[in-house]
Amino acid sequence: MKKIFIETYGCQMNVADSELVAGIITDTNHQITDDINSADVIIFNTCSVRQHAEDRVLGRIANESSRKKNKPGLKIGVIGCMAQRLGETLLNNKAIDFVVGVDQYSTLPDIIDNLDEHDHYFTEVNNSEIYEGLYPIRQNQLNAFVTIMRGCNNFCSYCIVPYTRGRERSRPLPEIIREISDAGNKGFKDITLLGQNVNSYKWQDYSFPELLKEANSIDSIRRIRFVTSHPKDLSDKLIDTMASSDKVCEHIHLAMQSGDDDVLKRMNRGYSAEHYYNLTEKLRAEMPEIAITTDIIAGFPGETENQFLNTYRYMEMIEFDYAFTFKYSPRTGTKAADFINQIPEEIRLERLQRLIELQEKITLKKYQEQIGKIKEIYVEGISKKSEDEVSGKSRDFKITVFPGDKTLIGSFVKVKITDATGWTLRGERTDIA
Ligand code: SAH
Ligand code: SF4
Ligand code: F3S
Repeated sequence: MKKIFIETYGCQMNVADSELVAGIITDTNHQITDDINSADVIIFNTCSVRQHAEDRVLGRIANESSRKKNKPGLKIGVIGCMAQRLGETLLNNKAIDFVVGVDQYSTLPDIIDNLDEHDHYFTEVNNSEIYEGLYPIRQNQLNAFVTIMRGCNNFCSYCIVPYTRGRERSRPLPEIIREISDAGNKGFKDITLLGQNVNSYKWQDYSFPELLKEANSIDSIRRIRFVTSHPKDLSDKLIDTMASSDKVCEHIHLAMQSGDDDVLKRMNRGYSAEHYYNLTEKLRAEMPEIAITTDIIAGFPGETENQFLNTYRYMEMIEFDYAFTFKYSPRTGTKAADFINQIPEEIRLERLQRLIELQEKITLKKYQEQIGKIKEIYVEGISKKSEDEVSGKSRDFKITVFPGDKTLIGSFVKVKITDATGWTLRGERTDIA
């Protein structure tokens, strides 16, 4: 029996995969631990989306490998997107004992059983793997991530994900519904449906709006979210379904990436800036309370100052509730990495800085607009800053802090918003609904 510690990086798909791996391992005679000091095996579930993400993990691995001096039997494994991208070459790093790619997690128990023999490496892409019949062991008792599809077919020219995650495939609807009901029965009230592009979910005659409707009819859950939506596939039918499904929260994460048509074209995104803008208008017309969040890349190869300013202006016009802004990071093997006119680091950084400053102002404004409103908060824990306060999320995905104690965790409370700082709302309980 070995104790396994898992450390997770990257997107929610990886968080969900770590929970799946925990499920696969627990089905054998091994055990998951949340104490790294007692671990016999440390697994890093890694992300390749930007160079920085990879560098961080390699730093962590170098650090943790020093434990081997005092604990010679300790083994370190790398799974996830970096395992998939770099494969066997990772084993040149002497700190690393095994490497397992995203479609090979079923082999983990075997590998763990045989760790003392030699290095292990297993990263074949299997474009049909959906881990049918395997279930996750969830890390918290409140929010359940449910994977509805794996892989991506979009090949945005900057992105490594289609190479690490393979082709798009959807899980059967009945399995997804069973998993959601099961989570609901165990007390999870907040479900997030996951896929790199949930809008293209397809199983038999069911597409994503039908899946949402089915999920919405499950009594034991109260809130449904989903990530990520692709603007080229966000249909009117989906917007209508969101608006008419009471459990589907008023929040959408819709990556714009750029507000310039030429850049969008070279990114292979399949929509224009105007199309994107119109989508935000439609969403707000049907759901006035909806929060729209986005991803933006600064300094894509060939981006001129004017093209950058187009992005800046669209951000001013749309006023996102929040934007994740990234400095373009070339990924070997993607088309954009070979584009001429790569933008110098200092210009990428300077553009990123301008986007961050702009969005900070907009976010503050959007959050201050909430003052005076009464919002339903799902209480998720004690506030980090004060023992006498709890923290949770509104339906429109805003962290909200208010006076209360741990007995409130897991419940839904009406809160009147009294203040807004950065991206936190503050308020007080109210019984007036
Ligand atoms: N499937 C999701 C995105 C997953 S990656 C979607 O399409 O919405 C999350 C974000 O990382 C992307 O939206 C993009 O903004 C950013 N990203 C991806 N590759 C990048 C790169 N090479 N450099 C910088 N940012 C990148
Ligand atoms: Fe990457 Fe584009 Fe697929 Fe998102 S949709 S994972 S950005 S290729
Ligand atoms: Fe990273 Fe892989 Fe997710 S590259 S963003 S962990 S799909």
